[in-house]
Amino acid sequence: MTRPNGTPREPGDPAPGAGSSPALPFRARTATGSVFDALADAYAATRPGYPEQILVDIERILGRSLFGADVVDVGAGTGIATRLLLRRGARVVPVEPGPDMLARLLDDTPGLPAVRGDGEALPLRTGVADLICYAQAWHWVDVPVAAAEAARVLRGGGALAVWWNDVDAQQARWWQRQQDRLERMSPGYQRGYRTRPYADELRWTGHFEEVVTLSGRWERRIGLADYLTWQRSKSYVAAIGDRLEDYLAAERDSILRAFPDGVVVEPFRTLLVIARVPGPLAA
Ligand SMILES: C[S@@+](CC[C@H](N)C(=O)[O-])C[C@H]1O[C@@H](n2cnc3c(N)ncnc32)[C@H](O)[C@@H]1O
Repeated sequence: MTRPNGTPREPGDPAPGAGSSPALPFRARTATGSVFDALADAYAATRPGYPEQILVDIERILGRSLFGADVVDVGAGTGIATRLLLRRGARVVPVEPGPDMLARLLDDTPGLPAVRGDGEALPLRTGVADLICYAQAWHWVDVPVAAAEAARVLRGGGALAVWWNDVDAQQARWWQRQQDRLERMSPGYQRGYRTRPYADELRWTGHFEEVVTLSGRWERRIGLADYLTWQRSKSYVAAIGDRLEDYLAAERDSILRAFPDGVVVEPFRTLLVIARVPGPLAA
């Protein structure tokens, strides 16, 4: 991740006090699980992974290796971040409200101490984690409530790390056409729905001694069929409902105009925010 530490505002962040950008008009957590449960197969098949550099940066801020660290992966979904953390030697407890997402995680990575749960009421004892992660999931929680829960479950000196892959294609006509279409077809969707002053929101909770933001850019190449499956795995695409197939057909045409060989070059910006609670962390 290339962005220097300590910069108070991020590109795209509203100024403090300017108010949050619009959230989606629904919560992912439902009475029985998660809106992602119905999307688990598409999700597991085509969601992008995360750059390893995220973990390097977290280790630097934490001041310790993740090898042997106690890590909670909240909103773990099908386990994309869980497996990244396991490969680095962390002891990971995945927490996820969606039973189908959790089942998919355990099918792919059996034997983990995974639990059903909500980031706003973690089913964990106080002071047991060195690191709590939310990969692509922090925008689904109420920040003051989930930040207090994270601070409770962390050991002194531990950190909350939240990150996202955002498609970084504002200059591309195919992306603008897609966003226009989503704003017409997905109820309440607005392209800036995830642009929020995440670092400031965490500072304002008062639980953290240090809040650092980093970002990096990367891209992947993905075939058209998989690209459309990835589209299906998004909650706001699923929310299109009866007109979903119309949306996907229009996307197919639009993408083929931009990428006639059927291989989409998809640029990402990964945003990482790390918030450390006070105290020394045992190595
Ligand atoms: C976009 S997915 C990310 C999944 C996984 N972390 C990854 O990187 O692929 C968001 C996940 O957050 C979960 N989620 C939604 N609301 C939540 C909440 N209140 N507490 C914990 N997890 C939540 C969803 O069920 C879903 O699995």
